[in-house]
Amino acid sequence: MHVLITGGSSGIGAATALAYARTGADVTITYNQGEERAAEVVKRIKEAGVRGAAVHLDLEDHATIAPAVARAGAIDTVDALVANAVRWGNIQPGSMAFEDVPAAEWSAAMHANVVGNALLVQEVLPGMRRRRWGRIVLVSSGIGEEGVPGPGPYGTAKMALHGMARALAWEAGRDGILVNVAVAGLTVTGVRPFPQDVLDRLAARTPSRRLSTAEDMAALIVFLGSAANHNLTGEIIRDGSNAGRSAHAI
Ligand SMILES: NC(=O)c1ccc[n+]([C@@H]2O[C@H](COP(=O)([O-])OP(=O)(O)OC[C@H]3O[C@@H](n4cnc5c(N)ncnc54)[C@H](OP(=O)(O)O)[C@@H]3O)[C@@H](O)[C@H]2O)c1
Repeated sequence: MHVLITGGSSGIGAATALAYARTGADVTITYNQGEERAAEVVKRIKEAGVRGAAVHLDLEDHATIAPAVARAGAIDTVDALVANAVRWGNIQPGSMAFEDVPAAEWSAAMHANVVGNALLVQEVLPGMRRRRWGRIVLVSSGIGEEGVPGPGPYGTAKMALHGMARALAWEAGRDGILVNVAVAGLTVTGVRPFPQDVLDRLAARTPSRRLSTAEDMAALIVFLGSAANHNLTGEIIRDGSNAGRSAHAI
């Protein structure tokens, strides 16, 4: 199996790449600005005894999407796609009133996170249809469902992925392609440190009394995006960290 993971140069994407590699899957990751970090992840993928590659992809520059998928094809056709990369934009709660968010920011968020991911899926679907097998996992955020005060483009774009997954599940299911959304709550990746007291209070509100790590999300994504998933499709699967709700509420 060959998996394409966007945003594999960091955080959840990098952990997912390594988790797939440990299952024996070949892995291509994409990076945007983190070419060196991506190379380090590829080194670790290969240490697991599978093939690995890194290609550049910028969701804001749609012209990079088809070439990235084509370059991933040097390893093999893409059997599973993990659409994990994100253009964060301004997600700082309370940093801006809704009415002050410029139209350009709305457009940029949708252009990258919605249209960019749709175009990415368009690139991998024909190969999956030919093989009559495929798995697609779209990575979303609890911020979409929970909401935070202030800027809205990030969460709104994430919610669009839920609609995309529902449409795709029906559209591609007859060709053996299963499409699901993995919803991360606040996930401890080490990339953006949060104050420990905030993390502790969020963790206390979850059933398992802990926040997920990148590796926890990776395990969920690998299940949804592999042959272990026999017939789960069109579903919105929330990781346990979601129960902690948003840090803004603490
Ligand atoms: N961590 C959390 O608490 C959390 C919570 C909810 C949802 N999520 C979701 O989980 C996913 C991964 O999050 P993370 O925390 O692992 O993020 P992260 O560590 O910030 O990594 C983001 C990845 O996206 C890539 N990227 C950034 N801008 C891009 C662009 N314009 N085009 C293509 N790729 C781009 C980055 O590439 P470079 O570094 O190479 O530039 C990086 O590989 C995202 O979809 C995020 O919305 C995360």
